[in-house]
Amino acid sequence: MKKTKRVQQIRKAVIPVAGMGTRFLPASKAIPKEMLTIVDRPTIQYIVEEVVASGIEEIVLITSAGKQAIENHFDYNQELDLLLERRGKLRICEELRHLANLIDIVAVRQKKPLGLGHAIWTARNVVGDEPFMVLLGDDLVVSDQPCAKQMMSLYNEVQESIVAIQTVPLEQTHQYGIVEGEMIRERVYEVKRLVEKPAPGTTSSNLAIIGRYILHPDIFDMLSRTTPGHGGEIQLTDALLALSNKRSMYAYEFEGDRYDAGDKMGYLKAIIAFALRHPELKDEFRRHIKEVAAAS
Ligand code: G1P
Repeated sequence: MKKTKRVQQIRKAVIPVAGMGTRFLPASKAIPKEMLTIVDRPTIQYIVEEVVASGIEEIVLITSAGKQAIENHFDYNQELDLLLERRGKLRICEELRHLANLIDIVAVRQKKPLGLGHAIWTARNVVGDEPFMVLLGDDLVVSDQPCAKQMMSLYNEVQESIVAIQTVPLEQTHQYGIVEGEMIRERVYEVKRLVEKPAPGTTSSNLAIIGRYILHPDIFDMLSRTTPGHGGEIQLTDALLALSNKRSMYAYEFEGDRYDAGDKMGYLKAIIAFALRHPELKDEFRRHIKEVAAAS
C-alpha cells in the first residue's frame, strides 16, 4: 500500500529581537524598539498576534541584554491585575489577562550581535528537528488573512522552505535580500538564487525578501557552516542559498501591505494603516486625516 507522507505542522515561530535598534535612536535608547507603540500596542504585539492567529503554538524569542520589557509585556502582572480589579477597570484587566495567556514564549539569548543568521541559529535546540516559522519584528503586514497563515497554506502543499517576498523598485534592491526565481504560478516562485543586499545593478530581479520565512530544520546545518557575509554578519540569506542548493525552496508574494516599522517613515505609515483599521478610532481618525490633508 502506498504510504502518504504526513505533513509536518508548523508549531513554532522564532522572532529575533536582539538588535540594538540604532535606526530608531534616540527613541530606542532605553526601551527596545519592538516596544515602541503603534496606536495602542507595541510593535511586537502585532507580530505575536499574527503568530497566534495563524495557529502556531510556541514562540522562541531571540533576545539580548536590555530586552526584558518584551518578555514582561507578555507576562502576567499580579500586582497590576489586582489594582485594576479593585478599581473596577474590568475591561482592560481582562485584556491584560488575555495577553498573558496568548501563547507560550521561550526566550533564548543571542550573546553576541553576529547577524540575523546567527540569531536564528541560536534557536536550534529549542526548535529541534521540525519546520518552523521566522518573523522579523520590523516587518508588519496588514492583510485580511495573516501573512504567516498564507505561507502555512502554501507549506501544506509544498512542504519545503518558503520566503515571503514583495516586488520593490530596482533602485531599492540593495536594501533587501533578493530572490531570483522562476514563477510557477500566480504569487509562487521556485527559488534559483538568493543574494543579500546586492550592489546596485548586479541583479535584474526585484523580488525582495520581507521578514517572514518558513524554514526546513536543515537550515541549522547550513547556518553552522555560514561564514560572515554582507556587513561582516552571518546572513540568513547566505544559509538559505546553501539550503536552496540542497532542497527545493519557494518564494511567495503574500497578499497584504508590508510596513518597515524599524524605519521612521515606515513606522509612521504603519501607525496610519493600523489606526485606519482600529474599530474605535478609525472613523474619527479618517476625518482628521482628511482635514489635515485639506488644510495643507
Ligand atoms: C533582513 C534580511 C533581508 C530582508 C530584510 C527584510 O535585513 O537580512 O534579507 O530583506 O530583513 O526586512 P535587515 O533589514 O535586518 O537589514
